[in-house]
Amino acid sequence: MKYICRPPGKKSIGILKRDEKVISRSYTREYSFVFRKARGCHVWDVDGRKYLDFAAGVAVAGVGHTNPDVVRAVRRQAGISIHAGFADFYAELPVDFTELLLTFLPSHLNNAFLSNSGTESIECAYKLARWHTKRKWVMAFNNCFHGRTMGSLSMTNSKPVQRDRYGPFLPVKHVDFPYFYRCPHRPLCKAPDECSDNCLNGIEKTMKELKNDLAAVFVEPIQGEGGYIVPPDSFLPGLRKLCDEHDVLLCSDEVQAGCYRTGTFLAMENFRTKPDVVSLSKAVGGGVPLGVTVANKSLMDWPHGAHANTFGGNLLACAGGIATLKYMRRHRLGENAKRIGRILLKGFEDMKDRYEIIGDVRGKGLMIGIEFVKGKNSRQYGIEERGTVLCKASEKGLLLLAAGRSVIRVCPPLIMTREQALQGLDIFEDAVRHANGGCP
Ligand SMILES: Cc1ncc(COP(=O)(O)O)c(C=O)c1O
Repeated sequence: MKYICRPPGKKSIGILKRDEKVISRSYTREYSFVFRKARGCHVWDVDGRKYLDFAAGVAVAGVGHTNPDVVRAVRRQAGISIHAGFADFYAELPVDFTELLLTFLPSHLNNAFLSNSGTESIECAYKLARWHTKRKWVMAFNNCFHGRTMGSLSMTNSKPVQRDRYGPFLPVKHVDFPYFYRCPHRPLCKAPDECSDNCLNGIEKTMKELKNDLAAVFVEPIQGEGGYIVPPDSFLPGLRKLCDEHDVLLCSDEVQAGCYRTGTFLAMENFRTKPDVVSLSKAVGGGVPLGVTVANKSLMDWPHGAHANTFGGNLLACAGGIATLKYMRRHRLGENAKRIGRILLKGFEDMKDRYEIIGDVRGKGLMIGIEFVKGKNSRQYGIEERGTVLCKASEKGLLLLAAGRSVIRVCPPLIMTREQALQGLDIFEDAVRHANGGCP
């Protein structure tokens, strides 16, 4: 825990003490919020304090916390059966879920593998790419996050602590992602498209070096843990073109950005780019652990036993997933994400004009990053400034999460109303004013 914000209440203190004794220290908790319950766009701590939630359990509660449709479906299914052993037997619910999910995806994505988490959905994509192409290397981006099991961790590199002491890793080449605000090139690029072109040139060079031994490129269409970094519009179409020219698979990690978070079901759709393999998790289960990897049937040509698991196709997860997808479609959550996203983005951009400590604001739909700096000219990371905003906002009842080195990510439930968004902006601005030394 980095920040003790408002003094925790009595019950929170008790649980924090017990937690410290028995729970691994490795979790990434930023501050002393002790969860009790949640509904819709609100969460409560164990001392009864209510918070407006701009974090959605890290982009999981897309349909809102404790969504009544999801609760009903999971309860009903629990009374029928929980586990079918889908690796060894057949069952209808996982097929129902997959058929429904495919109706949200481009038609070439027509075959799925079911698992329980984001990292597993990436492991599956990684193994599939290596199996299908018979090649060894994959490419991933600097600052990316794909999970923490050894395959996905070999790609992940958004923070040194995630990788320290875990090597040797699987064969992965890391290349630059077009993070224009902190341009990775020297001399610095003058425009986003130039940054995109320079990154694509580097990628092409690496593709040529790895000639005939590169299986896939893994990319988050919008980098998540690395700081909610939106690439220039030309980047992902350019990457697709390079993958086609060099006969390399394009694997889209939509674990955080997928399921309408950015307004379209897949974040890739914002960039009119079609991936070969898609990994989904987080929001797709409505809060129940669920991971899915989707590709074309001709690509998923591995034999019986090449990949399987115990809990994939879990009946509670599939019941939750079906209710979640139906709810998202019926309530047009993609459109709401765009509408509320516009309000929030505008609010944060206005704040950027008013406050010296906000260096950059970026995002699509309800995936918005606010980057804190010491000053607009220096662009020095505003790590303390960000910490103060997280703390002050939580004291005033707004739950936020960090990302990257000095970014606050905003990823509320996709059901958020205009009034809730405006209330959140007010609290956020109060916190920023405080961190900015009380001005303006
Ligand atoms: C883009 C992305 N991929 C993969 C993962 C890993 O997911 P999990 O923590 O469920 O293993 C995450 C988690 O934050 C993520 O944001």
